Amino acid sequence: MKIGAFDSGIGGTTIMNEVKKLLPDEEYYYIADSKNCPYGNKSDDELKIIVTKNVEELRKWGAKIIIIACNTATTRCINFLRQTYPNIKFIGTEPAIKLATSTDTKTILVMATPGTIASERTKSLLKENQKPGQNITLLPCPGLADTIEKYLNTNDEQKIDDKLNELLANQAAPDAIVLGCTHYSLIKDHIKSIFPNSKLIDGNLGVAREVKKAVSNLSSLYQK
Ligand code: DGL
Repeated sequence: MKIGAFDSGIGGTTIMNEVKKLLPDEEYYYIADSKNCPYGNKSDDELKIIVTKNVEELRKWGAKIIIIACNTATTRCINFLRQTYPNIKFIGTEPAIKLATSTDTKTILVMATPGTIASERTKSLLKENQKPGQNITLLPCPGLADTIEKYLNTNDEQKIDDKLNELLANQAAPDAIVLGCTHYSLIKDHIKSIFPNSKLIDGNLGVAREVKKAVSNLSSLYQK
């Protein structure tokens, strides 16, 4: 089956790696939209234009399932996309707050783009999942995704640590950190060097499982 995916760049590859482990034989089309990176500081109107362009491109290639491999585009635009393209199965990526709060973790730091942190979806994820006694801090990380996009695997990788140190300067070590942007899963080592004892949580496996479910549902539909 043809499966499309997009993100503002390399972040979504962290999702695709998990998806390909569960579904190695599908046909994948991935848009790394680095020209529009970062998504995280854009208005809803700007994002709607960007995601529509990506979806149109993936549709041309015949994608039946589209993975929004980006928390920002999911939390701000998935409803719009589902309404606009009712015949495409969209699988979104959102901050793994549900997973992080499902254990007895007491202090949780959610790192995400300003757009994701400010979204209604993040607010409802908190409301639905926060347990009594759990202390959850939402930390917008302006500039982090684009710094990763620009400097990961270059001689200037120190710039990523500088940015992280600036963003995390006033944070106490939490029990768990939710990586609420797919780019952040690429810098687990950098985050661990600041908070070595915090558990890092992303929703990548959950997304991959959803894709697997969607593929088997669609396949059985085509066989009928
Ligand atoms: N990787 C994306 C996310 O998960 C977008 C980052 C950005 O472009 O700001 O939010």
